[in-house]
Amino acid sequence: MVRLTRSRFLRQLTAGFLGLFCALVFAACGSSTTPTGGDATSTGASPAAGGDTLTFAIEPTFAPFEFTDSNGQLTGFDVDLLNAIAEEAGFTVNFQTSQFDGMIPALQAGTIDGAISAMTIKPERARVVDFSRPYYRSGLAIAVQSSNAEITSFDNLSGKRIAAQTGTTGATKAEEAQGDVRLFDNLPLALQELSNGNVDAVVHDAPAILYAIKTGSVQNIKTVGDLLTEEYYGIPLPKGSPNLERVNQGLTAIIENGTYAEIYRKWFGAEPPELPEKAPGIE
Ligand code: ARG
Repeated sequence: MVRLTRSRFLRQLTAGFLGLFCALVFAACGSSTTPTGGDATSTGASPAAGGDTLTFAIEPTFAPFEFTDSNGQLTGFDVDLLNAIAEEAGFTVNFQTSQFDGMIPALQAGTIDGAISAMTIKPERARVVDFSRPYYRSGLAIAVQSSNAEITSFDNLSGKRIAAQTGTTGATKAEEAQGDVRLFDNLPLALQELSNGNVDAVVHDAPAILYAIKTGSVQNIKTVGDLLTEEYYGIPLPKGSPNLERVNQGLTAIIENGTYAEIYRKWFGAEPPELPEKAPGIE
């Protein structure tokens, strides 16, 4: 039952990316279907009158959520989303580049106001930081070389060289596989190792892997099997942050007024799924 749902979910994700790919091709052909939406810049949305500036950590090698475009500008779904929330809630975002695994410690130390980086809401994290309501439904996938016929499911990863990104849910899952886990600072490095044949598989978030495949940023890679997990991304803030409520109000407002759906369509070429108000299993 669960497997069926997850495999349907993976097909939906894949279909969404095919749509996106077509949109990209159209844009390249000079059609007027070029995605609309705010220009993402490294300084964020224009300051709201009387608003304050909040610093958010971001690990910008994770397309289509956060990455730098050909002009070196910070862009992506998360960037547009946080700027739209900020505009609604009356603050300006100062994006601060960070390693993914440094975010929770920085939030705990209170040296940043928040982070946005496709971060999965999970109990261990929710104990030490506060998360916004879920803003994206995701799941982990396994990537292997296109020619690999041996690895078709998680069980086949036993004894294999598995790459993952340090501090991620993919790394935690990879540790369960009884293989030789190699940790990298980001997804592109892990995928490159796979493409080069230095590892046998990568375990990471399906939408980011599928986007890398569809946009051709990595060669001769495919995903196999069903999604390994169902996860929801949230925006983490320090425990007890006074900004949690405004971030949640801003997020709820853009979900209700259609801005969220517009940003979702821009980046995923599909209609957004219904989002729960709380991630399953989280208080
Ligand atoms: N969703 C995964 C997690 O929370 C991976 C997120 C990685 N994000 C990034 N910007 N590299 O662990």
